[in-house]
Amino acid sequence: MWGKAVSKGPGVQKMFDDIAPSYDLMNRVMTMGQDQGWRRFVVEQAGNPGDGWVLDLATGTGDIASLMEKQFPDGKHLGADFSLNMLSEARKRFSNQAIDWQASDANNLPYKDNTFESVTFGYLLRNVDDSLVVLKEIYRVLKPGGRVVCLDTTPPEKNLLYPFIRFYFRFGIPLLGRCIASDEAAYSYLTGSTMDFHTAEELADIFKAAGFLNVNYKKFMMGTIGIHWGKK
Ligand SMILES: C[S@@+](CC[C@H](N)C(=O)[O-])C[C@H]1O[C@@H](n2cnc3c(N)ncnc32)[C@H](O)[C@@H]1O
Repeated sequence: MWGKAVSKGPGVQKMFDDIAPSYDLMNRVMTMGQDQGWRRFVVEQAGNPGDGWVLDLATGTGDIASLMEKQFPDGKHLGADFSLNMLSEARKRFSNQAIDWQASDANNLPYKDNTFESVTFGYLLRNVDDSLVVLKEIYRVLKPGGRVVCLDTTPPEKNLLYPFIRFYFRFGIPLLGRCIASDEAAYSYLTGSTMDFHTAEELADIFKAAGFLNVNYKKFMMGTIGIHWGKK
């Protein structure tokens, strides 16, 4: 029987609301402390916005927005997310920084066309129904010449390391989720959504289809993390 497609949005929003308090610890442990290095690479790729506006979308507990603000204090910084609990962690963690935290949905951004010098986002696209819709929305709010930078997990390639990586994703990450976040389901979702996500090559093509130029990417952590960037 044909039914109406169910949007991922409400489930994803509730899941992040629930895991917000343990999100940062889980991130550090699960990535063996490498996650902040990837975020610093995102900031480097986003480049200096001068005194213009920059947006970190799906900001979560705010790490990318915080690094951007520290690196480029002359910019005007927004961190946006649709999970209010994640935003409230971000506000608490970085209360001493000049960042405006806002509730917004990546599918329908409450910003005018051509507003931002750069838009960054970590681990957003895996969680939305249609990456192309979200990338077109990001393209709309970027200024001409503005930079987009995306950090996400990537399905591992089928090479010699594949069985070990698969084992870690299939059993290690959900086990850590159970022990640290008391939420095995949220971290089983991470595994499933990574394995089902676009390959880095496919995602680069979706960036191009959204209109971005000079699209490129780099992989990290044995090919399980990808950072894509491009220009409007
Ligand atoms: C895995 S967390 C990443 C947080 C942060 N970017 C980081 O680097 O740790 C993913 C975030 O995306 C947010 N998110 C997912 N779908 C969204 C949407 N449609 N609009 C806004 N935020 C969304 C979630 O609420 C969550 O805070």
